[in-house]
Amino acid sequence: MDICAVVMAAGEGTRMKSVHSKVVHQVAGKPIIRWVADALLEAGCNEQVYIVGEKQEEIRDILGENVAYVFQEQRLGTGHAVMQAAPFLEGRDGYVIVLPGDSPMVSAKTISKAVDKMNEGDYGAVVITAVAEDPTGYGRLVRDFEGNVLKIVEDKDCSPDEKAIKEINSSMYVFKTSLLLSALGRLSAQNAQKEYYLTDTIEILIWDGNRIGSVVCDIEDTMGVNNRKQLLEAGKIMNRRILEKHMENGVQIIDENSTWIHHAVEIGQDTTILPGTTLMGNTRIGKECIIGENTRLDGVEVGDGTVIDYSVATQCIIGSDCRIGPFSHIRPETKINDHVTIGAYVEVKNSTIDDYTRARHLTYIGDSTVGRNVNFGCGTVTCNFDGQDKVGCIIEDNVFIGGNSNILSSVVLGKDSYIAAGSTITNDVPPLGLGIGRSKQVNKDEWVAKKNRLRGANYIKLDTKRSEL
Ligand code: UD1
Ligand code: CA
Repeated sequence: MDICAVVMAAGEGTRMKSVHSKVVHQVAGKPIIRWVADALLEAGCNEQVYIVGEKQEEIRDILGENVAYVFQEQRLGTGHAVMQAAPFLEGRDGYVIVLPGDSPMVSAKTISKAVDKMNEGDYGAVVITAVAEDPTGYGRLVRDFEGNVLKIVEDKDCSPDEKAIKEINSSMYVFKTSLLLSALGRLSAQNAQKEYYLTDTIEILIWDGNRIGSVVCDIEDTMGVNNRKQLLEAGKIMNRRILEKHMENGVQIIDENSTWIHHAVEIGQDTTILPGTTLMGNTRIGKECIIGENTRLDGVEVGDGTVIDYSVATQCIIGSDCRIGPFSHIRPETKINDHVTIGAYVEVKNSTIDDYTRARHLTYIGDSTVGRNVNFGCGTVTCNFDGQDKVGCIIEDNVFIGGNSNILSSVVLGKDSYIAAGSTITNDVPPLGLGIGRSKQVNKDEWVAKKNRLRGANYIKLDTKRSEL
């Protein structure tokens, strides 16, 4: 069976108040139009043509060249939009699936159900409908006493009786391609909006003696995104579906309202996601991890048994059994192996860190290679920028770095060496050596007494003075 699809996406999206095309806005990390394209692919429909308007470049960037595009110069309605695809449809004798480009919730299941319905009965078209609590704004399905579809009437053209109908047109259909083409040629724009309505093809097909089938789906699946509020709603619905999928796989979500997970994220069994967590891009988390609270991971691969608390990580790899946070920042191109601790106010960028290394507090590691079992004292800084280039340092296995040390660009700290606290290390330190890079301490005996600087006895006087100020 020859099945292709026409997706209507030439709309200006005026109600969105955006410089971008409506259909490129994201829902759960995926552009709306990509959701539609993916649902079609999943339903087995590879041949897709998109009706595009002025902002077509953005759509082409997302969908690429595996689909076809037709430019609709003037927006004269949904019927006119589909008419633009006539050259693409002529000569085909199978079915054509028609979808609106602004409905991210459309599922492969719904599309397949409609195609199956076409196969079951001898229908000219199948309309996908839903029952809406508040059908305002939607086209209504008008049926006869036996329940046969008679026509679709747009909200603005409805009589009071028709307005009361709760079954709405989702704007998703399957047509016999040849019949659709013949009906499109006979559309007129004599209606409230002076537009060529695609919905009128249904009545034309009935006049021609065809039967129209229908498939009722969940109203959520038909949801169109026309404005910011609907984009928020669609995001919420999609997010809830994603959370449910993860819970079915054995992931524990603690708060559905503050946990946001993008569509492509993978999470292993018995991992817990705490409130305030956002997981983005192609983040992959292993088993038995605890992520959050208040953590954002974007494109991060995490092993098993790792805990990440109050932290931000982007485009990096974090191994198994690590302890990250609170308040860590792991930046792109970082690879952290297993059993590593990255603690409070520690930033790591473009570095590799091997097993069992610890940087528990106030440290910056940039562009560096760090071995196993290294200890970063509080306040260690790899001075990776020499004013011209970014070059980090090499810190070999088992190195101990005392607190508040600076390790300059290109320096190599040899295996098993020590760095004295408070050092600025400008030269390599040999294996097993001790690097001290600070001035020697001088003590002056009895200096306080000689200078009459004793503070202890004076503190009340000093405090009174301060309150006078
Ligand atoms: C349409 C249906 C309505 C249905 C509703 C479901 C018609 C006449 N009405 O109304 O019955 O209940 O969807 O959401 O079909 N588009 C073009 N070119 C045009 C006009 C529209 O490409 O000239 C595209 C839009 O970008 C959009 C889709 O077609 O993706 C639907 O158009 P829209 O204006 O949103 O139709 P609705 O008023 O929502
Ligand atoms: Ca719409």
